[in-house]
Amino acid sequence: MGNKIEEVRRMFLEFFSKKKHKIIEGSSLIPNNDKSLLFTNAGMNQFKEYFLGYKKPFYPRITTIQKCIRVGGKHNDLENVGFTNRHHTFFEMLGNFSFGDYFKKEAIFYAWELLTDSKWFGLEKKKIYITVYYTDIETYNIWYKNIGIPKKNILLVKDKDNILYNSDNFWQMSETGPCGPSTEIFYDLGCNLKGDIKNDIGNRFIEIWNIVFIQFNKNLNGELIPLPIKSVDTGMGLERISSILEGLDSNYKLYFFQKIIKNINNYIKTKNLGHNSLKVIADHIRSSIYLISEGILPSNEKRGYILRRIIRRAINHGRILGRKKPFFYKLVTKYIKYVNKKERIFLYKKIDNIIHIIKTEEENFNKIINSGILLLEKEIKKSNKNYLSGKQIFYLYDTFGLSPDLIQNICIDKKINLDKKEFTKYMEIQRQQSRKNNSFKKKINLYYKNKISKFDGYKNFISYSKILDIYINEILIDKINFGDIGEIILDITPFYGESGGQIGDIGYLEKDKKNIFQVYNTKIQGNLIIHKGKMILGSLKKDDYLYSKINKLNRMMISRNHSATHLLHSVLRKKFGTHVEQKGSLINDQYLRFDFSYNNPLELQDIFNIEKEINNYIFKNIPIQIYIKKKKEIQNNNIIALFNDKYDNTIRIVDIKNVSKEFCCGTHVLNTQEIGFFVIIKFSNIANGIKRIHAITHNLALEYIQKQNKNIKFISKIFRTDEENLIKNILLDKKKINILKFDIKELEEYIVLKEEKILAENNIILNDINLLISKVYSLNPKIFSFFIKKILKKFKKTIIFLSTKWKKKIFFIIKITKNISKKINAIEIIQKNLDKKVCKLNGCANIAQGSIYLNKDEYYFFLSKIRLFILNKINKLI
Ligand code: SER
Repeated sequence: MGNKIEEVRRMFLEFFSKKKHKIIEGSSLIPNNDKSLLFTNAGMNQFKEYFLGYKKPFYPRITTIQKCIRVGGKHNDLENVGFTNRHHTFFEMLGNFSFGDYFKKEAIFYAWELLTDSKWFGLEKKKIYITVYYTDIETYNIWYKNIGIPKKNILLVKDKDNILYNSDNFWQMSETGPCGPSTEIFYDLGCNLKGDIKNDIGNRFIEIWNIVFIQFNKNLNGELIPLPIKSVDTGMGLERISSILEGLDSNYKLYFFQKIIKNINNYIKTKNLGHNSLKVIADHIRSSIYLISEGILPSNEKRGYILRRIIRRAINHGRILGRKKPFFYKLVTKYIKYVNKKERIFLYKKIDNIIHIIKTEEENFNKIINSGILLLEKEIKKSNKNYLSGKQIFYLYDTFGLSPDLIQNICIDKKINLDKKEFTKYMEIQRQQSRKNNSFKKKINLYYKNKISKFDGYKNFISYSKILDIYINEILIDKINFGDIGEIILDITPFYGESGGQIGDIGYLEKDKKNIFQVYNTKIQGNLIIHKGKMILGSLKKDDYLYSKINKLNRMMISRNHSATHLLHSVLRKKFGTHVEQKGSLINDQYLRFDFSYNNPLELQDIFNIEKEINNYIFKNIPIQIYIKKKKEIQNNNIIALFNDKYDNTIRIVDIKNVSKEFCCGTHVLNTQEIGFFVIIKFSNIANGIKRIHAITHNLALEYIQKQNKNIKFISKIFRTDEENLIKNILLDKKKINILKFDIKELEEYIVLKEEKILAENNIILNDINLLISKVYSLNPKIFSFFIKKILKKFKKTIIFLSTKWKKKIFFIIKITKNISKKINAIEIIQKNLDKKVCKLNGCANIAQGSIYLNKDEYYFFLSKIRLFILNKINKLI
């Protein structure tokens, strides 16, 4: 069959739409405002706050097709990918969701109808097997009694290692968050294949659908708190169900995978098109493309690190198949050709950037691999025993990214044995370490049941508010006393909670003149606005009424910077093209920071042009209008949509007339003139193809210009010139300095020559030994050591002590030729003749050197002592 996937997609949505589900777009691969997840790993992620009861859903029944990444975090399939027929780093999940609406019975009946009815997927009923969480008898009975699945085809699945809820049939989104028992639907591919449902091994039984009954919120302490509503979350892998419906025994036999595998083989040329490495590469090009399309860049941290691992794993597998030159980036264009039209349009807009990023990463990694291979060969030679230890393999893996498989292949070629057991031990230590360092745990997991704070601060700076809750150290309390640091939640507040790049407001919560809480920062969690701060006067209680007042000046600066950010974004797109995309921003009261994708260098003249254009808009005093629209109404409108992964019914639009239109929840000034003045203070390259601009506005911009002006005036004074001629004068002075440097060098050479001559004359021969003890003209330490090297070459059997004074410090060296150093020890001479002053000294029996601060008398005394000491020593040799 051609492209079954598209048919399955359509049928799934149609089926649930008929069952009164609202079809919603899947969200971004980067979870919005959720630090408990690295990537979106399931269809339910975007609805987390609905499941938890923090927010009321707009529709009680929803269906989606969600792009997912399962690498890193709780659900991690990376190591399996390529070695099974059905795991992927990137895949799409079909899902239907009920938020406090239908529950177990309907969810199971819907799934059964879609899978088995001949109008829909029409799978053979007797090939379907079910797993159920062992305490969930209700679900068991629905399958057995209502649907009629034979008992032998239903398995009760227990907890692993006797740990409560540690079961394949108890689904959890991440370490914290919504969870509940699940029932899974399996399909039997036939008894000629081996397999075991319970342990999820073999190729015979394929898990196709997971139906989760969300009933709990798991908090950081591992406690399960019952949720106010009972919900359903289901997930079915689009690739899996499509391959089953096409009668294929592997997802990799699907049309687009086969196309991409054939394409890989243009570069790799293996006869075995079923080779696991080809599957790895075909899977990884998909995830790399989608991760980059969402703005992730390869790096050594968090999401960027995962992307880097995926790209490198693919390249390692290319090497395993013998491909040494870059090839991975070449697959991008081909892959995009085989996706559906909607995806193709989306990805084509970003294709140049995706290719550029993968290519650069691939080239860099190839360089690293090559040096790793050289090292591997060295290690092999060094071990001299046809053996590589686990520690050595781990080092090559950890430092150079050489995969153990690649190392093994090279070693097989060279007939080298590997200690894989020891290597596994090191890997386990690393795994434990990274588990410990896992920074994605949600810090606060408070259970704000059914509460809402209303934001009232777009136009007002003061509200009259009631205290809903008070927390200290995440513990709910009734009263906050003088000196306590805590969090206060109000029913209504003008404080803006940090979001969309804009920082939170600061200010005061005042009951009266004697009871005041100072707000240091404001954050958002779910439907709540959280005021973080300290009780600086008196105390406050739950249910108290107070005035919540934001710091107006601070807010005005933030709003100026936010409106200026919109102008900057728009000017950048106008100037460099609409492919320029925002990659992040920070807006505070001091400055704005804006990251964007742009592959060419930014020149100073570009910066001046951008500044000029933005200031022109400011001077024109353009009104900034803000209005709310229904999402439906604004489709196909030319509005910049950023981080548009949050499903909501309405959209707030910030419209700077004829200049910029953006979806935005932030605060803004009323017209461009209020921004006052705009200056870019820094621009830099923060990653491949990503630029960063720092800019300031209003009086801070003026102060900045004045400070620069002051500096220029001051520098002009130093150079005794006016501002007009400053640059000319600096260049002239630089020229003069270069000439002087040259003169000094010549002079030093002259001095060296002269000193050399004097020293040669001062040389005395005593007891057959050349003796040269002298101080030389003030030389800088570099020239002094050059001078010494020259002198040392001149004499054979010698004792030489030379010193020079440079910037109040004495530098000295003593050298004794080897044949006499057994009797006279260089380092001992220095040590015995120095008093307790701090001295840098190093050396051995025949050479010692150092430096010390000495005044004129001390220096003289030091030299005399050395001289006397050496003479005495030589006399004793007679
Ligand atoms: N959340 C469940 C899963 O990902 C069902 O969608 O398997």
